[in-house]
Amino acid sequence: MTLTSLVDRAISVLRSNDTGVFTKPGPHQYPHQWNWDSALIALGLSHFDLPRAQMEIRALLSGQWQDGMLPHVVYHHAPSDYFPPAVFWQIESSPHAPGVPTSGITQPPLLATVIRKIDSRLPMPDFVHEVYPALLSWHRWLHTSRDADSSGLVCILHPWESGTDDSPRWLHLLAAIRLEVLLEFQRGDTKYVPAIERPHQAEYERFIYLIDVFRKLHYVPAELLIHSPFLVQDILFNAILFRADEDLHALAVSLDQPTDEIDGWLSRMRLNFNARFWDEGVGLYYDYDVRSGETIRVNTASTFLPLFAGLPSERQSQRLVEEHLLNPGEYAPGGEVHHWVTTTARAEPAWEARRYWRGPVWIIMNWFLIEGLQRYGYDDLAETIRQDTLGLIEAGGFREYYDACDGAGCGSADFSWSAALALELSESTARMGNGS
Ligand code: DGY
Repeated sequence: MTLTSLVDRAISVLRSNDTGVFTKPGPHQYPHQWNWDSALIALGLSHFDLPRAQMEIRALLSGQWQDGMLPHVVYHHAPSDYFPPAVFWQIESSPHAPGVPTSGITQPPLLATVIRKIDSRLPMPDFVHEVYPALLSWHRWLHTSRDADSSGLVCILHPWESGTDDSPRWLHLLAAIRLEVLLEFQRGDTKYVPAIERPHQAEYERFIYLIDVFRKLHYVPAELLIHSPFLVQDILFNAILFRADEDLHALAVSLDQPTDEIDGWLSRMRLNFNARFWDEGVGLYYDYDVRSGETIRVNTASTFLPLFAGLPSERQSQRLVEEHLLNPGEYAPGGEVHHWVTTTARAEPAWEARRYWRGPVWIIMNWFLIEGLQRYGYDDLAETIRQDTLGLIEAGGFREYYDACDGAGCGSADFSWSAALALELSESTARMGNGS
């Protein structure tokens, strides 16, 4: 496939998933608007239709709660066979719930970063002025309602908030949750995607159980921090938030808005990030279980997210890259693994080639990594990963994720953020004059 046809096909995937109000992440598996998918979709749309990209962002923000929370799914009254349906969340029990049906949890805050990226290429001061208050209020909500220990680092309450649902780093935490009620439900996620590529039933039961805990607490943030059985400081979420705070800061400056509050968030995170997550012995970042006060010693590609945020020192970045990313026993291709980059270190016992976040290559993780490596001057390695990523898409289509061994496409077909990021990654090929 030539670069031109890859771009054309990516545009056609985004167009075909467009409902007219929002863009579905996947045509069947994900029929509503997901928060971080939507940010990347807007980034992709901005390459060929800026007004449509802005509409995508407005649609997402229409689901914002009155206290600032931006939910992980906005249902937009669209009928579907997706489980859990909008009614399952019972968000009307919160006085902050919006008029449009949404979920009651959030997702990694990529939106400010995406808006700044678009604005730096296609200046849109009026739009930035319009959406800035919503972004500020979401970040303020994260820094107040989710800061359990006043460290400036925020907590997630559900694996779905990490965006990496069944990552091996959550497995022992989920296994420790005692189900006090047995909920009856019918999963919808294995209807369109083989069960072998989706989370196991034991994890799924706990995903749903946690929602039941939250709805019984009426989504009151302080109550959730006290009672949620799952309370984690996630490297990925915090690194994305730090980067997004920096981007929010830049947007504030462009609008001549005060930045003191954002400066405060940035300095507390900068102060505590490395102390909390960096393990000097192994040279990796590890997540932290706030409930038990224990480090989660599971090696996944989230460990590289701080590079995207510019948080590691030069020496830390060198250890991450040289001891881990380039190590074929962990992330580099070698043996049965032929592609960059498996989402869980190959040596982890829970690694699986095709199951959701257990091992497959995800385009979003490669994009984070490429951006992070470029930030630290590893341009050649970033280029190798970029080319391998585009090669996977060319061979396997715009899939949700890919088997790192044979490159086979897995999960949803015609996946919107894979199309959006193909546009983003091809753009740099075109800039370098390599397009055909
Ligand atoms: C799903 O349904 O699998 C989603 O990841 C939940 O957000």
